[in-house]
Amino acid sequence: MTRLPEEIATARLVLRVPTPADAPAVNVAVRASFAELSEWMGWSVELQTMEESEEFCTESREKWRDDREYAVLMILKENGAVIGGCGYPNLDWEVPKFEIGYWCHSAHVGRGYVSEASHALTRLAFDELNAARVEIRMDDKNERSWRVAERLGFKLEGVIQADARTNAGGLRDTRIYALLNSIGLNVLAGVSA
Ligand SMILES: CC(C)(COP(=O)(O)OP(=O)(O)OC[C@H]1O[C@@H](n2cnc3c(N)ncnc32)[C@H](O)[C@@H]1OP(=O)(O)O)[C@@H](O)C(=O)NCCC(=O)NCCS
Repeated sequence: MTRLPEEIATARLVLRVPTPADAPAVNVAVRASFAELSEWMGWSVELQTMEESEEFCTESREKWRDDREYAVLMILKENGAVIGGCGYPNLDWEVPKFEIGYWCHSAHVGRGYVSEASHALTRLAFDELNAARVEIRMDDKNERSWRVAERLGFKLEGVIQADARTNAGGLRDTRIYALLNSIGLNVLAGVSA
């Protein structure tokens, strides 16, 4: 029995574990956003095929069922459109700690959807999953992503140098933002998302 909910509702979104039926909508959203995704996401090296989208949906469900990973779609309540994805790409139940990851369909960037979803994932971690720590990591150059973490009150802990390779092959420095349990709850209480 998983500890992670199949669905979370926020003001404007439903965050839901994908089913195989979501593959076509995921494929459209990912392909439409390829220019931005390929700059920042290690998994977006080439245009995603429909088979890969189907695989993503199926595997996400399996990993969700046994608590290995949490990938949910960001779905607009008003029309059911898939406008991105988020979740905990890395989690450690021993600590417990959760890393939040996200991407947004390029046509829907700049409306606060990612901050709204990340706020809900942070609350879930602290309120329901007993998190000691929630973190967000990103390429040091990804300023839009810094702003999501900072808008939610996450604290910059540091920048790790030469931590990874970009898809273009260059070296990447990684920013690490975190919220800790009691501090996180207080900070989030003062943030509307
Ligand atoms: C990083 C990324 C997710 C940020 O998306 P985003 O749309 O800027 O983030 P949000 O949804 O939180 O929106 C915030 C923006 O909407 C604006 N906004 C509008 N309405 C808003 C609302 N109701 N609430 C909050 N912000 C709102 C904010 O002012 C902000 O704009 P600004 O950054 O220009 O000041 C997006 O650029 C992306 O998908 N990039 C490619 C993938 C990626 O880099 N993922 C992260 C890897 S670590």
